[in-house]
Formats: sequence, structure tokens, C-alpha cells
Amino acid sequence: MITRMKVLVTDPIDDAGLERLREAGHEVETAYDVTGDALLDAVADANALVVRSGTEVTDAVFEAASDLVIVGRAGIGVDNIDIDAATDHGVIVANAPEGNVRAAAEHTVAMAFASARSIPQAHARLKTGEWAKGDYLGTELNAKTLGIVGLGRVGQEVAKRLDGIGMDLVAYDPYIGEERAERLGAKLVEFEACLERADFLTVHTPLTPETEDLISTEELELMGGGYLVNCARGGVVDEDALAAAVEDGTLDGAAIDVFADEPVSPDNPLLDVDDVVVTPHLGASTEAAQENVATSIADQIDAAFNGEPVMNA
Ligand code: NAD
Ligand code: MLT
Repeated sequence: MITRMKVLVTDPIDDAGLERLREAGHEVETAYDVTGDALLDAVADANALVVRSGTEVTDAVFEAASDLVIVGRAGIGVDNIDIDAATDHGVIVANAPEGNVRAAAEHTVAMAFASARSIPQAHARLKTGEWAKGDYLGTELNAKTLGIVGLGRVGQEVAKRLDGIGMDLVAYDPYIGEERAERLGAKLVEFEACLERADFLTVHTPLTPETEDLISTEELELMGGGYLVNCARGGVVDEDALAAAVEDGTLDGAAIDVFADEPVSPDNPLLDVDDVVVTPHLGASTEAAQENVATSIADQIDAAFNGEPVMNA
């Protein structure tokens, strides 16, 4: 039988997850927006730490948290957690890889349409009373080619949805077999071919040393037109290069949900380019997704405290 354990939550998660932890008998403390020494103090007596993408879980955090058993990421990407340091300190890292996949895929589709039809730009002008009907001649996604970089969970859900509206699909993912792509009606191609053929390119890789700045000036020139959507991770696309490419007409537009540094600085070049549609990392922000990931992480923390397998599910 376990004793009462302390769970520190440093990024907001759905109440359903907090409730589940409390019902399991654990003490839950929330401390949002803590950084630096305040984070190190807060985590000192915690047995579990729950984060989303806002908290950087560095080696110093693991050093400060001598009683830590598990870090739970209420979402998919663990690029804000120093996994090597977790391993060195014997701390489990768990994520919730399924719960927000559909939300992220739907946001990706929404962003593709938003940029193809200039919806945010037209909306903003109409709200100020300007009837700019003649200024926006959009692009249909139907019969265009979608290039998918990273055909994992989110990439596959995007493929299904955009296949359904009549796009041709090509994909680049060096870690999957052709059958996965074929099942989705997509053709697996090399990276350059994916860039060259795509009218819309959508990125769905994790941020790793291999994918950092995967898409920069040269890759955008290979696209030579069309739209880029990034609802995966900032850092996979070089922001200066993308802003320049949309500004000079190399690309028709882009839609970006994620940034190399978040919250994004007002100086970020992407904010200055009219044909770049932006959202503040909203891909997973639906009620269903947030409840899913919060309860998944609560269950995994409880399992870890009970010495049971942590399933990352
Ligand atoms: P996943 O692990 O299921 O899929 C990632 C895919 O990328 C895998 O198939 C992998 O083989 C592929 N990949 C890895 N390196 C690659 C490379 N160099 N080139 C091409 N493909 C490569 O992950 P997922 O659940 O599909 O999530 C995808 C991304 O979306 C992650 O970065 C995740 O953090 C992010 N995400 C963002 C939001 C949001 O709120 N915007 C929500 C959910 C997920
Ligand atoms: C994720 O990787 O799951 C996303 O960053 C979603 C989020 O937590 O905002």
C-alpha cells in the first residue's frame, strides 16, 4: 500500500486529471508559470511532476527533486524534458500519445483551409467594417497534392481527413514501411520529391536533433510555391527562412501553430507577414483532448506510485 504522494502540476491540465489524482489519495499542488529557482523549490518534495509544453524539465530540476518518481507530460511532445537527465536520475518519463491526436489533426486541417482562403485576414478586415470581397481569391484543396512530413499518429489522421476532401497524398517518413502509406492512399517518397510535389506541405515530426531546421531556405525553394502548415513543433521549420519565403513570394502562404520559443516574442518575423496565419499552440486545445491527456497522465502516475507498469497510453 502506498503512502500519500505529492504531485506537482506546473502547466494547467484539465480538472478531470487533478480530480483523478486526488481521488486516488494523492496530494495535488498546482504552481503555474514557475521557472528558475521557484520551480526548483516547488519540485523539491514532489514525487511526481506534471507538465505540458510550458515547463522546461532540465537536469537542474531532476537534481532538485530527489524524491521524484515520474514526470508526466499531458500531451505528446517530450522535447521540453531532458530525457537523459531523467534516466540518470532513475525517473520515469510518461506521455499521453493518443489523447490529443484527433484535435491536432483537426487543427492542422483548419489551418490549411484558413491559409488557403485567407480566413483570418478577411475576418480581421470585416470586423473593422471593411468589405474586402475583391481582395481574396483562394485556393481549393481538392485535387491538390498534400505532402506529409512524418506519417505518425497525427500525420495519419491528417492524411485520412484530407484524402476525404480529394487531395492526392505523398509522404516522407524514413522510419515507416510503404504499407502504412499505401493503407492511407499515400505514396511514400524521398524528402526532396515530397517538397517538390506538395501544393500543401504539412509537418508532423517530433523535434529532435535530426529534425531541427529540417525545413529551411533550400527546402522552401524546392517547394517553389504553395502553403506550409506546421502544427508539430517550432524548430522543425526555420522561422526566418519561412518568413522571408512568404514575404518574397517563394511560398503563397503558411499556417503556424508552434514556435521555436513559446510564448512567442512580438519580434518573431512570422508575426509580421500577412500571409502567415498563426495560432498560439492550440493544436491540442479541445475539451476532449485535454480531458483525455489529463486522465491518461493521472492514471500513469498512479500506476508508477503503485509499482505497476506505466503504459504510455
Ligand atoms: P508520432 O511519434 O506518432 O509520429 C511522428 C512521425 O515522425 C513518426 O512516424 C516518425 O517516424 C516520423 N519522423 C521522425 N523523424 C523524422 C524525419 N527526420 N523525417 C520525417 N519523418 C520523421 O508523433 P505524433 O503523435 O504524430 O506527433 C507529431 C508531432 O506533433 C510531434 O512533434 C508532437 O509533439 C506534435 N503535436 C503538436 C500538437 C499541438 O498542439 N500543436 C498536438 C499534438 C502533437
Ligand atoms: C503535444 O505535443 O501534445 C502538444 O504540444 C500539445 C500541448 O500540450 O499543447
